[in-house]
Amino acid sequence: MMELWEAMERRHSVRAYEDKALPPEVREELSVFIDQCNRESGLHMQPVWDEPRGFGGMMARYGKFSGVKNYIALVGPKGPKLDELCGYYGEKVVLRAQQMGLNTCWVAMTYSKIKTAFAVGPGEALRLVIAIGYGQTQGVSHRSKAPEEVAQADGPMPEWFRHGVQAALLAPTAMNQQKFRFTLRGDAVSAGAGLGFYSKIDLGIAKYHFELGAGAEQFHWAP
Ligand SMILES: Cc1cc2nc3c(=O)[nH]c(=O)nc-3n(C[C@H](O)[C@H](O)[C@H](O)COP(=O)(O)O)c2cc1C
Repeated sequence: MMELWEAMERRHSVRAYEDKALPPEVREELSVFIDQCNRESGLHMQPVWDEPRGFGGMMARYGKFSGVKNYIALVGPKGPKLDELCGYYGEKVVLRAQQMGLNTCWVAMTYSKIKTAFAVGPGEALRLVIAIGYGQTQGVSHRSKAPEEVAQADGPMPEWFRHGVQAALLAPTAMNQQKFRFTLRGDAVSAGAGLGFYSKIDLGIAKYHFELGAGAEQFHWAP
């Protein structure tokens, strides 16, 4: 399996998929991984296999999606932590899928909610979905802000901090907005979201990338 840093570099959003079913062992591996993430986070993420209706309507065509038959429903307990948790753990699943040779796209808007396809328990909400499958292409690199636009340090920036920021800039964000900020004080890093509808989800995604790039042992998140 490719390394996680390689998966971060290779991942791009893919919206057009091959008409190729995911083999049982691939589904099993992803399901086990998603269950682990759910146990760790308290989320209720669910893989939805062979369900073409979610991306079968006008909305999906408008959003330029085609051939999407599998997706992950990001469901979890309502509350102030839901968005960041969905971002962090959803991106774990995305990078695992990339390591397995699959492609993905985070989707907030252009899909239909098929209520019978997944379970939303009492007190839970569906936040968004991640399309998953074998892409017709591998996608393309997004335009990116420069590290100085999103990062600040109280002294010279250590190498690990730079690597963290570079990894965060590879992360997917809604409408490629990259509104997050990383600030270093001593060995504490604080990460802020900026304003925007999905910016807390973006922040969770970017924080996972930052940890992978910087090395989690190098720093701690500011409380
Ligand atoms: C929270 C979130 C929501 C998104 N929603 C959509 C969407 O509704 N439709 C879509 O086509 N892409 C969506 N995207 C994908 C972004 O447009 C994409 O990640 C961004 O343009 C950066 O490109 P990249 O993922 O190829 O690096 C979403 C991404 C995130 C993180």
